[in-house]
This record gives sequence, C-alpha cells and structure tokens, in this order.
Amino acid sequence: MKSSTAFPRGFIWGASTSAYQIEGAWNEDGRGRSIWDDFCRQPGRVRDGASGDMAADHYHRWREDVNLMAQVGLNAYRFSVAWPRVIPAGTGAVNGPGLDFYDRLVDALLEKGITPFPTLYHWDLPVPLHERGGWTVPDTARAFADYAGIVASKIGDRARHWITHNEPFIMALGGYFMGQMAPGIQDPVAAMRAVHYLLLSHGLAVRALRQACPGVIEAGIALNVNPVHPATGSPEDARAARLMDGVLNRLFLDPVLKGSQPADIVELLRSLDPDIWERDLDVIAEPIDFCGINYYTRTVVRHDPAMPVIEAAPVYPEGNDYSQMWEIYPDGLYEITARIHRDYAPANILITENGICVPDGIDFDGRVRDYRRITYLKEHIARVKRLVDDGVPVGGYFVWSFLDNFEWTYGYDMRFGLTHVNYSTGERVLKDSGRWFANVIRATGLAD
Ligand code: FCB
Repeated sequence: MKSSTAFPRGFIWGASTSAYQIEGAWNEDGRGRSIWDDFCRQPGRVRDGASGDMAADHYHRWREDVNLMAQVGLNAYRFSVAWPRVIPAGTGAVNGPGLDFYDRLVDALLEKGITPFPTLYHWDLPVPLHERGGWTVPDTARAFADYAGIVASKIGDRARHWITHNEPFIMALGGYFMGQMAPGIQDPVAAMRAVHYLLLSHGLAVRALRQACPGVIEAGIALNVNPVHPATGSPEDARAARLMDGVLNRLFLDPVLKGSQPADIVELLRSLDPDIWERDLDVIAEPIDFCGINYYTRTVVRHDPAMPVIEAAPVYPEGNDYSQMWEIYPDGLYEITARIHRDYAPANILITENGICVPDGIDFDGRVRDYRRITYLKEHIARVKRLVDDGVPVGGYFVWSFLDNFEWTYGYDMRFGLTHVNYSTGERVLKDSGRWFANVIRATGLAD
C-alpha cells in the first residue's frame, strides 16, 4: 500500500542543468561564441577568473552522466541547448555536429526511460546577435523563433517537452540593468527592451515549436519567482514589497499567463520606454502547456530611496538558516506556487529548479555527506506534496542541479549538484543527496 506521503502516479522526478554551466568544449565541433564566453574573459567579472571553457566536461562525458541519471532513477532530465553550438552566428548556417550532440543525448536518455526536457535558452546568446543589439532588438526575438524551429525539427519527434526561456528576469535585469551578468550592460532603457523582446521571443518560439512538430509538443517557460515580504509593517516597506513583487514576478507572469501588464509597474517604468508595454501581448500570451517555476528563496525588502526606480533594498532577517547564497525558506515554495495557481491557473505547474549550494566535498571514505542539501530538498519536496494534496496541479519537480557546475559569477565555488564533480579529473561521485533522491524516486515520495 502507498503511504500518505506518496505522490500521484506519473509525477515527474527530474534534475536540471544548463549548457554553459556543464558542457565545456567551448571551441569544439564548430561551436560559436556566446556572451558568457566573452564575459568570463573580462577581468573581474567572474570569481577567480573562472569560465565555462571546461566546466563539468559534459560534452565529452555525457554518456557517463546519462548512466548516472539512470542509476538515480530520474524519469526526466532538463538540459539546455546551446544556441551557439547549433547556429554559431545565431542566424544562418546550422552546425550539424552541434545539433547531433543533442540528438544523441536525447536518444541516450530515452533508452534509459528518461524524458528529455530541453530548454532553448539559458543565457548563452551567440555573440554576433549581441553585436547587433542582443535582446534589445526585435531581430533577436525572430532569430530565436527560427532557432527553436530548427532544433525542434531535429529532435522534436522524440523530445516532446520544451522550455523556451530560463529566467528572463535574470537575463534582462542581471544582464542589462545591474550588469553583473553577461552581457554586463547597465542601461535601464536597454533592460526594459530586453524584458519585452525576451517575452516576445518566448511567444514566437512557442509558435515555432508547435509549427515544427504539430500536435506533439508541450511548451512552457521557466520563471524565477519569489514571494516578496516587507521587512516591517510600515506602509513604505509594504509599497517596496509590492513593487519588488511586480518587477520580479508580475512583470513576467502577467504577460505570459494573462496577456496583460501589471499596471502599477508599467506606470513606474513607462518613463524608461513609453510605448513598448502594450505591444505584442497576443503573441507573448500564446497558450502554454505548463508553467515552470524556479524556486530557491524568498525576497525580503525595505523601503530605501537610494535604490533605483522601485526604491526597495533587500534585507536578510536574523535567526533564519542561510545557504552560501540565499536564505532557506521552504514555505515560500508553497506560497508562491499556490498564488500562481490562484491568480493565473496554468494547466500544469512544474518546479523546474530547486536546490542549494552548501560547502561539501569528498570525505575520507570517498562519500560526500551533504546532509544540509538532503534537509533542504526534503523540506521543499514536503511543500510540493502539500501543494498536490491541496489540489494545485504540480506535475513534477526538478532538482538543481544534477552535477556540480559553473555557477555564473561565483565560478566553481558554489556546488549545487546531486553529483560531485572533481574539476581537475572530471571524476563524478554521487553525493549522499543523490542516493537519497534515488530513494525518494523509488518510493514515489518522502518516506513516512
Ligand atoms: C538559477 C539559474 C541556474 C543556477 C541556479 C543556482 O537562477 O537558472 O542556472 O544558476 O540559479
């Protein structure tokens, strides 16, 4: 008999990665350059001057990695396709060997009963497109749709579940507003355009995917969403929290899932670009089959007039647990997912990323005892179960990440994997969390 902790039959248990963070082989088999290749080469951008040149060497070790996934019992794997590997200039000539890599990967996954979930864009824009304006111009959105169609024509007969974008918020705001992520631009107007053309490209890509493989594709997007809480009960902090929520969550959820813009936020942002907001909403809101949620933490803010536009500054409450990067706040996963269900009612919700970086390493006997990761995952999976029990249509859960990898500006300091990677030798060791997750999958849920 199934215990009360068992998830429904068919629940998806997966793990996620992204191309630039794991593949390496940056200049092999005709791959073009991406904005992250260039960004990493700019002094001071990435901790220790690290880059994804080698990363976890997955491009060469993919077979071993797929075998390890099968050992864990994953029934789905979310990876990203590197646009510059497939179309080195972003538009035009297709690089056969690049496309073949994903073709082989998909076959190998299916052989092991693992459902592929390709993501088309996880921040690695081809440099030639960046040089022509990147995400601030409509041509890039059109190029993205062409690229989506090309990849789907090759592997869409076998890979049925597609994610267009990973976290357009980070791409637009991190890449074009704060500038701490590639392409490293600090220009509020460019950032607003990037929000718009990323969203437009999502809608165009959904259409292109369905056109390439009529009737078989399930398409969605992976959005980073956080509940935003005010630091105190003051009206100023409440306003800061509302506006932060608007920029972080509603600016993306509203257009994609409702075909509208959050009025309070657009009113604030209109001065940056007066007429971009109402455009293309019918395309952006092209119906999707699932909404992907990447959840790690909540955001707590206080009013701070020194902060640009929304005058909200982050606060890190005392007395809670923290990881190397974020506050640990499992209830936030329940809160934001239940809210998305209530306010937007997407047909299906997938937790497309959830995980933690904690210092871990190989112990004397070759094991990696990453107990804090196990606790984190357990707490979050328990919230997913509560969501399912409460009737929220959550159909799957993907751990970030299957492998330790290149964590963007933090380089290799942050380890998120269920699998430990020795970056000198490439050797993989399944951590205790990986073995634990294998048991969760086997039991279809947390043990009582
Ligand atoms: C998410 C990204 C992913 C990884 C995790 C830790 O924002 O999608 O690439 O960096 O955070």
